[in-house]
Amino acid sequence: MIKKGIILAGGTGSRMSPITKAINKQLLPLYDKPLFFYPLSVLMLAKIKDILIIVNKGQVEQFRKILPDGKNLGIKITYAEQEKPKGLPDAFIVGEKFIGEDSVALILGDNFFFGQSLTKKLIESTKLSKGAKIFLYPVKNPSLYGVASTNSKKKIINIVEKPKKTKSNLAITGLYFFDNKVIKFSKSLRTSKRKEIEIVDLLNKYKNEKQLSAEIIGRGGAWLDTGSIKDFNNTSNFVAAIEDRQGLKIGCIEEIAFNNEWIKKKDVIKAIKFYGNCEYSKYLNSIIN
Ligand code: TTP
Repeated sequence: MIKKGIILAGGTGSRMSPITKAINKQLLPLYDKPLFFYPLSVLMLAKIKDILIIVNKGQVEQFRKILPDGKNLGIKITYAEQEKPKGLPDAFIVGEKFIGEDSVALILGDNFFFGQSLTKKLIESTKLSKGAKIFLYPVKNPSLYGVASTNSKKKIINIVEKPKKTKSNLAITGLYFFDNKVIKFSKSLRTSKRKEIEIVDLLNKYKNEKQLSAEIIGRGGAWLDTGSIKDFNNTSNFVAAIEDRQGLKIGCIEEIAFNNEWIKKKDVIKAIKFYGNCEYSKYLNSIIN
């Protein structure tokens, strides 16, 4: 059972410069809330309550202003700083102490997931006892991503990073579930040409031991990009369209905590006071009344 999760929320955000020169990308507003609320809600929907958020050097205080320690959500938030963006598997080296002897989920701080049966798939994935599991999503331009092909039993048969040509259209998303071997494997990785340790190399270690499986998010689900200004805006507009249509919020962390019965009505009232007079607070008020 996976009970711990890491949000990797550092990075240079170079594609979104100059905005990201002074502010961490994950603190930018994706429509009506900071970007990192979305990956945080994914872990919370997976019923993961012990969460490490990794940010860049000197940025912890900014995050703490919004989310001090998780008590307000009935969860435990720990922060750690990454010295510099050394690659995604560095999350398991920075997070070694946090992980301890356990298995762990990783979600990238800028990844957006939405769709029916997502929660079911997430909870199912936390049952992983051995090996690793990744989430795949069909895309039009697989050559921009890490791409996986699978056999009929959802075992991964091949992984390639940004292939020029590929038969598979299944992109590897930024959501992963690993057993404890992930620490040892991550430490053994060599730095690549772009001077980072690579998630594809880590996944290949599991694949070589036939311990890598996949969950496919179908066309009814959404895994959207937030890497470039255009993608960020498109995803923001997606959230706006759904929220305005349904009157329900995507990625409202207090609502998820309340529905999971991790917090009570009085805690939601506290959150309303904390956020002040804004649309988000009005929404929180509507879920408790
Ligand atoms: P990337 O997309 O690799 O990079 P980035 O977000 O810094 O943006 P850009 O490519 O425009 O420079 O990172 C994916 C996510 O992982 C993002 O949320 C940042 C985070 N990240 C870290 O926190 N530490 C790291 O070492 C890396 C490589 C990424």
